[in-house]
Amino acid sequence: MNKPPDRRVSIFPNKRTMDGVMLEEWSAVSQASVLRSGRFVAALSGGRTPVSFYERLAASGRDLPWEKTHIFQADERLVPAGHPASNLRMIEAKLLHHVPIPAVNVHAMPVELAPGASAGAYDQEMRDFFGLKEWDLPRFDLILLGLGEDGHTASLFPGAEGLWEGRRLAVPALRPAPDHDRVSLSLLTINAAHVVVFLVTGEDKASALKAVLEGPSEGLPAAMVRPREGRSVFLADKGAAGLLAAPPRMNMI
Ligand code: 6PG
Repeated sequence: MNKPPDRRVSIFPNKRTMDGVMLEEWSAVSQASVLRSGRFVAALSGGRTPVSFYERLAASGRDLPWEKTHIFQADERLVPAGHPASNLRMIEAKLLHHVPIPAVNVHAMPVELAPGASAGAYDQEMRDFFGLKEWDLPRFDLILLGLGEDGHTASLFPGAEGLWEGRRLAVPALRPAPDHDRVSLSLLTINAAHVVVFLVTGEDKASALKAVLEGPSEGLPAAMVRPREGRSVFLADKGAAGLLAAPPRMNMI
């Protein structure tokens, strides 16, 4: 019998308080990971939602184990490194260029390759980094995800082949114009993580968040994120939580 998902939902009056709790989560998970394994391995998303958190983390001045931290990407658009749509460009500008993380600890998705080749190369990079045998899975300490209005997360869109991927750790995501071809961690990889945190803000995400948390969620990629041996955390502001039938108590800290 499948055990119920280990899932926590917290609602905040505004993004500032939500980012503050995310900073505490990051601090706790990073310290615990270094104690457990000697390193902290996280995969980060792009988009608009996490920008203020990345800025808050960069400016926190906290004594975090950056020299033992490794940053991977949850997904990337296959555009040149300096392109405005590049997730890495944003993550570097808002976070990585402001913290003492060694350059070799930043594991960027290769954007100069075709989608399938890029996904294959990133799959291999994870296998090498985690020292995986044939059917092992990478266990990220934390994966930070956003939520699209259509229920997508990372670059796993409804109906995408990568949703039911049983082997590849990263998959190509071919989008119609005007968006870009992308590469994404597969659901297989995401669900092997210790902790998955969704950051969701804005009324435009209320319908998607309600569907993911309360159903019907058939085929919604974000609803398929259920870490097998880990836990998922949804941090949302009151705008995004506005349609929830049974919202948890508001976090006022
Ligand atoms: C990306 C993200 C994507 C994002 C959602 C939400 O590359 O755009 O990985 O999955 O998290 O689309 O985007 P916003 O945070 O901009 O609303």
